[in-house]
Amino acid sequence: MCGIVGRFGDGDVVDSLVTGLTNLEYRGYDSAGIAVLDDDLSVVKQAGEISELEAAVAETRPSGSVGIGHTRWSTHGPPTDENAHPHVDCEGSIAVVHNGIIENHEALRNELEAQGHEFTSDTDTEVIPHLVEQALDEGADHETAFRRTVARLEGSFAVVVLCRDEERLYATRQGSPLVLGVDGSEYFLASDIPAFLEETRDVVYIEDEDVVTVSDDGFEVTDLDGDPVDPDRETVDWNPEAATKKGYDHFMLKEIHEQPHAVGQSVRGRIGGDFTDVQLAEFEPGTFSDVRNVQFVAAGTSFHASLYARQFLFDRGIPTHVYSAGEYATNPPPIDDDTLVVGVTQSGETADTLASLRHAQAVGARTLTVTNVVGSTAAREFDDALFIRAGPEIGVAATKTFSSQVVTLALFVERLVKDRTGSYSDDAPALLSNLSSLPSHIETVLHDGSVGHVMQRYRGEDAYFFIGRAEGYPVALEGALKFKEITYEHAEGFAAGELKHGPLALVGPNTPVFAVFTGRNVEKMLANVQEVKARGAPVIGITHPDHEAVTSVVDDVLPIPKTVPALRGVLANVQLQLVSYDVADALGRDIDKPRNLAKSVTVE
Ligand code: F6R
Repeated sequence: MCGIVGRFGDGDVVDSLVTGLTNLEYRGYDSAGIAVLDDDLSVVKQAGEISELEAAVAETRPSGSVGIGHTRWSTHGPPTDENAHPHVDCEGSIAVVHNGIIENHEALRNELEAQGHEFTSDTDTEVIPHLVEQALDEGADHETAFRRTVARLEGSFAVVVLCRDEERLYATRQGSPLVLGVDGSEYFLASDIPAFLEETRDVVYIEDEDVVTVSDDGFEVTDLDGDPVDPDRETVDWNPEAATKKGYDHFMLKEIHEQPHAVGQSVRGRIGGDFTDVQLAEFEPGTFSDVRNVQFVAAGTSFHASLYARQFLFDRGIPTHVYSAGEYATNPPPIDDDTLVVGVTQSGETADTLASLRHAQAVGARTLTVTNVVGSTAAREFDDALFIRAGPEIGVAATKTFSSQVVTLALFVERLVKDRTGSYSDDAPALLSNLSSLPSHIETVLHDGSVGHVMQRYRGEDAYFFIGRAEGYPVALEGALKFKEITYEHAEGFAAGELKHGPLALVGPNTPVFAVFTGRNVEKMLANVQEVKARGAPVIGITHPDHEAVTSVVDDVLPIPKTVPALRGVLANVQLQLVSYDVADALGRDIDKPRNLAKSVTVE
């Protein structure tokens, strides 16, 4: 949700800023801009995608060895040229990029307007350059002006400021991500590491309320009072190729095809003793021995992965609730002393999920984050963190991270059982050995090739429904979410048993129904298939192809290899990802950047 970059280089930084923004385009893409400092401060910004900014930059040719940039996902004010970042003060001498929301912007704007400042946009961000300007007018030096400004801001923000009179960047964060990349005497500030992954893998994670300054003297991190902070410098193990499409038409397709590797990474080194042991080095033995029930908080695809994991816990007799993070944050349920609250979030930056975990922590609950991003806010702020190790995901629609979340949670659940009872569940050996074979089973699905010819028959229908039970239910929800996200067609997922309580009214010959068969509750699923067939709906069964009772009833089959039911949902989900991709591609949709959506939703 908005991407910001800052760049301090030895030579001209314009190309590097634009590349950084292109790499962050998944965070927002309805307007973009840069500001660079040469003899003067030049700003190029406009509504539209980054390719359009690139064209404008080629025309106006700004240059400079220090600059900032922004790609926007609108929250305050429509995507217009005026509302695009960077925003500047009255004199055009202070440029600011910002990700997040300034909650007290109206009061600040009124105050600044009363002092004579003139605003040119509808954004909350514009108060920042004017506050810096006001402080400079009152005699403060640049650093003091920046600190005074930050002290006035309420809300969540990551901000980078560039002033005409100084070859220096000032940045800070409060609840929104910000990371510093270090490449010798060159520096990058960004919302996320892929912005600069081609240039350096050496990073410093900036903490909330820290101020970082970057100049010819190097970088310096201080707290809000100006006292030095000594942050850890880390080398991330992400491959720079992860930020490229590697010959695929879209990041989403590449990431779908990366699933065998991603899932392999998630389980690598975590299954031992000939499928009898789970080794999660993150946790001391017995860490979860007191946990009696689990609450998951998550959004979107991570919510569906949590629902999937709930089934693992149910199967092992552990009471579990899954909450939409947006609801939990505002209407939290009671939490017992022995409740573990698990935030599942790919990015580790989703504001609703962070707010939920913060609430849980504030009332004394034990908190665990399951995330893909090692330096993310969620990974650093709560009691424990477990990493899914899927590698960076750039496509806005989550794919490989769903699979990696599910398999990581499967391992976690076995570990939880072991801590509570002293031994793994009876299902553990079968689960663990099938988890080890899951990458090759996903490979089989990816090479199956049925989706293209099956979906030829089902393009341009009125609506698409997805049904399932047990682990097939979250897969049905996820199949529908992916479908609506990238095709913009009407799609809904249901627990198969719910159809007769309302949704059947929508079902007819022009509403194909995807039925997810995991090998559990087959009779009941077949009854639900008959219900929709009786209304004329064609049914596409996602099932093992030898399952005659299913294949003889459905109209088409998307096959999945045989494995334990607990993991068949992951394979079915891969087929459904391919279904959504196929339809979206045929419709010419902007698959990696679906309209109105952003990958990392850092506002509540
Ligand atoms: C769907 C999608 C979103 C995210 C949701 C949570 O394809 O990507 O629904 O799953 O915004 O994001 P994280 O997992 O980063 O908390």
